[in-house]
Amino acid sequence: MARATSFSTEHESELNPLCREDAFSRLDDSSDKVFYETDRFVSHLDSLALSTVKHIISSLITEKDPIILDLMAGWDSHIPDDLSTSEIVGLGLNENELKQNRELTRHVIHDLNQDPHLPFPDASFDAVVNTVSVDYMTQPVAVFEEVGRILKPGGLFLVIFSNRMFPQKAVKVWRDSEENERVILVNDFFGLSGAFEETSRFSSKGKPRPKDDKYADQTLVSDPVYAVYAEKKGGASKGKRPAISNDYGRKMTKGLLEKKEAAVKQTLQCPHCDEKLKKWEVPDNPFCQTWDNDFMYICFNDACPYFVRGWDRMYRETNQGMSYRLMYNPEKDRCMPIPVPSRLALKDGIIEA
Ligand SMILES: C[S@@+](CC[C@H](N)C(=O)[O-])C[C@H]1O[C@@H](n2cnc3c(N)ncnc32)[C@H](O)[C@@H]1O
Repeated sequence: MARATSFSTEHESELNPLCREDAFSRLDDSSDKVFYETDRFVSHLDSLALSTVKHIISSLITEKDPIILDLMAGWDSHIPDDLSTSEIVGLGLNENELKQNRELTRHVIHDLNQDPHLPFPDASFDAVVNTVSVDYMTQPVAVFEEVGRILKPGGLFLVIFSNRMFPQKAVKVWRDSEENERVILVNDFFGLSGAFEETSRFSSKGKPRPKDDKYADQTLVSDPVYAVYAEKKGGASKGKRPAISNDYGRKMTKGLLEKKEAAVKQTLQCPHCDEKLKKWEVPDNPFCQTWDNDFMYICFNDACPYFVRGWDRMYRETNQGMSYRLMYNPEKDRCMPIPVPSRLALKDGIIEA
């Protein structure tokens, strides 16, 4: 099994999980062609996460009429309808899915794990997109090198992933990693290939799962979406692409927000989502000694844009796994954030719904 190597010191390589002999082994190491012979006309993400995937693609592919490769493609390439392209090529393993993929102009059946060489000429694509599939690559660095070869200088390689997988086909290092570590892994694949400018990263997490989703009764949260991307070295823009906005719930103007905050005393409504605030008893513990009040008012709406954006913001500011809710202090007539590690946190203190 090929391994990612080229770490600078022996110590570094000992610590790096990529260097373990079995890093790219799988529970089912039989031929991928056999596994993917079965048609899977399913959505691998919920509808909100899929719209985020499209949003990422349309934000980053800025070339005029680009030639795009969907690497490890299925029946849907998630290329937004309004993105004008001159060609979209799909490379994958399931003939029926690729034939029914309406976005593709042509497709190729090719097993990357058997042969990481990509069957395309040098510098023939403007962008290569790999969606929810990087976890199945057993020789990722060789594939990333090949993507570097077939991209034009300055061309984009965009790797998008989430936390769902076919565990039997995902490589061990992926299965054994936390979500944040997977971002680092993909970043390492880019770095070790030596073909790209510096990577950029994007994540979208903590958004409410669409109510009509088939897993809505099992989880309240939409599938997280992570993107790691970089340009092939040698382009004119030196890796600069537009930032991807995380525009969940349009942000209010400062003036309107201030007006709504000033009215909370009368309305007892969240200034961010207009939902009624809930009366919450301040617990008798040393962490709350800074507050003299017996109770506060908190917005417990899980779809409140303030709370939803908080997951992303805290993630970016390294307080991973936290968000915050809007809290109103009636004594001081002030709105402030109260940090929460989960949706359930603080809810046992609600005294008036
Ligand atoms: C989870 S599906 C994702 C499909 C598609 N990219 C999407 O976003 O819906 C994984 C895809 O990877 C492809 N794939 C898996 N192993 C592969 C391999 N060894 N070589 C080429 N493609 C592979 C399969 O054909 C399958 O379509």
